[in-house]
Amino acid sequence: MFRSLFVRLMVTYFVIILSALLTLGILLSSFFQDYIMDTRKEELLREGKAISQYIELYSLGLIDSLTLRYQYQVIDRFLGATIWVTNERGYIWSSHNSSQLDEVDWENHKLTVDEFVQVLEGNTITRIGRFGESFAVPVLTVGMPLIINNKIQGTVFLHSPIQGINRTLRDTYESIWRSAILSSILSMLLLYIISRRFSRPLTEMNIISREIATGNFKRRVKVKTKDEVGQLAMNFNAMADALEQLELMRRSFVANVSHELKSPLTSMRGYIQGVLDNTIPPEDQNKYLKIALDETERMNRLINELLDLSRIQTGQFSMEMKTVDINETIRRVLIAREDRINERGMDVEVDFEKDVCLVEGDPDRLQQVIINLLDNAIKFNREGGLISIKTWTHKDNVFVKIADQGPGIPKEEIAHIWEPFYQIDKSRSGKGGTGLGLSIVKKIIEGHGQNIWLNSEVGKGSAFIFSLKAVRKQ
Ligand SMILES: Nc1ncnc2c1ncn2[C@@H]1O[C@H](COP(=O)(O)OP(=O)(O)O)[C@@H](O)[C@H]1O
Ligand SMILES: [Mg+2]
Repeated sequence: MFRSLFVRLMVTYFVIILSALLTLGILLSSFFQDYIMDTRKEELLREGKAISQYIELYSLGLIDSLTLRYQYQVIDRFLGATIWVTNERGYIWSSHNSSQLDEVDWENHKLTVDEFVQVLEGNTITRIGRFGESFAVPVLTVGMPLIINNKIQGTVFLHSPIQGINRTLRDTYESIWRSAILSSILSMLLLYIISRRFSRPLTEMNIISREIATGNFKRRVKVKTKDEVGQLAMNFNAMADALEQLELMRRSFVANVSHELKSPLTSMRGYIQGVLDNTIPPEDQNKYLKIALDETERMNRLINELLDLSRIQTGQFSMEMKTVDINETIRRVLIAREDRINERGMDVEVDFEKDVCLVEGDPDRLQQVIINLLDNAIKFNREGGLISIKTWTHKDNVFVKIADQGPGIPKEEIAHIWEPFYQIDKSRSGKGGTGLGLSIVKKIIEGHGQNIWLNSEVGKGSAFIFSLKAVRKQ
């Protein structure tokens, strides 16, 4: 039941709020109880003093008994108090019956209780209870000496029923608890909204991540906040985008590979079939078998390149860093391609800043880069065009430039030529290529922590430039 974050949050908040309100309620209630009792005591004491003064005036003949009774009534109305005035022997000689208590004729009753003795000695007392057995219900009693002419001449007792006080207290309690309940309902409502807000993106992410796991990349989390949960949702969406992109790439990659393998296979099958059933005349059979052989070579190349690319992408193929003379590598590649270059009447211009140019890198991979770039330059160059190769050092880097005078690459294509299988114009520039060369080149250069750039002008030619880490001679 407490497994969901939302429920857990709600329950935790609820317990916190409830215990806070409960503590507050109890504290407030006891505070009010004390406060109301104290105020009532003070009121009784004050009225008791006032009665003493009226009695003094009465005994001096300055007011009559009617005025005295009137005062009693005022106090009764105000405090609901029974009033006793006794002489020093304890006989009640003047009294008033509280309108809230039983009708009893108190006059000539004799007080014998301890409290009377204490008050007569000059003490002021307060008691809560039935004052001996005098009252049927609990009362708050205040007793004080009656002082006339600076002498204790008797006592004054005021009894106020506690029920009235209790009623006030109950009212207070009630309003405290009512507001506590109201505020807890309000805060629960608020909490509900906040917790929902907090947990909804998490729940959503949970559901969507499950969908992604099953291959559905379409849905995203709605991000509303900027807090940590909002950031998490945002990153989650970015991750989903990246995964979707990757999945798209994977699908098009598989489609491309299948296509690239299928077309040579189909033509090979056609040729071999033609040779076997003699639809191709015997004198042409050699020619077609040779084409089929070329196709197998192309497929072989394609598969090797694919393997390279996948090894680089999965990080299986670690670069073995050594010190390499990149000028020497270029020379070797050039020599191997001399015949092809001559065949097409091209010129090669080599501009090495120094004879030996040491860089840090994997010798085989760097050779692969040079081969790919140079082969492209030879393949795409115009007949009799110039191929220029240059190496130079700048600060900690060596730069290598391989340029041709081919058709160039339009600006809008530059970003794409690094993608696997991308060929600008397949029918024109295919020339037995696979479209994998440049993506392998880029991966290798990136694997060295370096960069590759392309400068190209349509109709004039292309120049590929890449950087390498220079090795300083000790
Ligand atoms: N030097 C160049 N001049 C013009 N276009 C080029 C050059 N190098 C590469 N390209 C374009 O980029 C594409 C991708 O090159 P690459 O990855 O080496 O594949 P491939 O050489 O197998 O076609 C080529 O098909 C071609 O359209
Ligand atoms: Mg190529």
